[in-house]
Amino acid sequence: MEQALRSDVARGLSRMPKEVPPKWFYDERGSELFEEITRLDEYYPTRRERAILAEHGEDIARFSGAVTLMELGAGSGDKTRILLDALIDVGTLRAYVPVDVSRGFLLDSAAKIAADYPELRIHAVAADHDRHLALLPDGERRLIAFLGSTIGNMTPEERGRFLGGLRGIMDPDDSLLLGADLVKDRSRLVRAYDDARGVTAAFNLNLLSVLNRGLGADFDPGKFRHVAVWDDVHERIEMRLRSACDQTVVVRDLGLKIPFAAGEEMRTEISSKFRRPAVEQELAAAGLELARWWVDSDGDYAVCLARVA
Ligand code: SAH
Ligand code: AVI
Repeated sequence: MEQALRSDVARGLSRMPKEVPPKWFYDERGSELFEEITRLDEYYPTRRERAILAEHGEDIARFSGAVTLMELGAGSGDKTRILLDALIDVGTLRAYVPVDVSRGFLLDSAAKIAADYPELRIHAVAADHDRHLALLPDGERRLIAFLGSTIGNMTPEERGRFLGGLRGIMDPDDSLLLGADLVKDRSRLVRAYDDARGVTAAFNLNLLSVLNRGLGADFDPGKFRHVAVWDDVHERIEMRLRSACDQTVVVRDLGLKIPFAAGEEMRTEISSKFRRPAVEQELAAAGLELARWWVDSDGDYAVCLARVA
């Protein structure tokens, strides 16, 4: 993990514009801040996804007939309980395999789920799904869940590689459950990523503490501002950190001195918003076939099921 952080940051800070991949948000504090975001009035995706899972949990369970639920970027696994309940009701489920880069948070979440579901075998895996897909444990008749619209945090090229990689590890009787936030009114989207209480700002700025701790850097979070903008061309929100002044940041472990001009922005996350035809087409390009597509009653968010084509 340390080596991946070093190479991501060395590459990202030498580029123009600068960028750091969003997977590095999630130390213990980052994971907690994300959980707080999911409870904000402005941040609708989690509530919408939960409503869809509650309404269609039984369909998902019957369609997949899953013996193993493997969840990528599982986080707290809160919404997952709806799926676990539905799969247990249908009678097929034996194992839950949550996968996440946020190791401590993953272990705590997995321990809580293990306590509440003693009938299941829980196998938590601290791994990076961008790099370690092929190393994930195999399992009988897997439902692979990728929720929260975390797929939106990948560029189209990264999505192509990721979906192709997933297809590569899927057996013919496995299925994929994917959550995707949909394109909507720009002002609601910007509010969802720039909330009134500043929780998203704290989440974004926490990345600097991760870099300070992980790489001996000397970022001063007080000298950066949270920015969330809607990119109409790519239909995505971009989160950035804007330098409040001319400054030089030392990244000790990389032997780098990085200049930031006043007003210069470093990209920390893209959060793409989707439309059904593009999702269907990206799945098909990876050798996956869209089998179900559910949207919440406000038309904000979609959950879909795909199988090997
Ligand atoms: N699925 C949960 C959490 C979403 S937040 C939900 O829907 O609420 C995104 C989660 O993905 C975080 O827990 C983060 O630690 C994890 N994550 C981000 N990038 C990852 C990567 N490359 N590999 C594994 N986990 C990742
Ligand atoms: C995890 N991911 C899908 C979230 C999102 O909406 O892109 C992370 C997040 N960033 C800001 N708020 C929430």
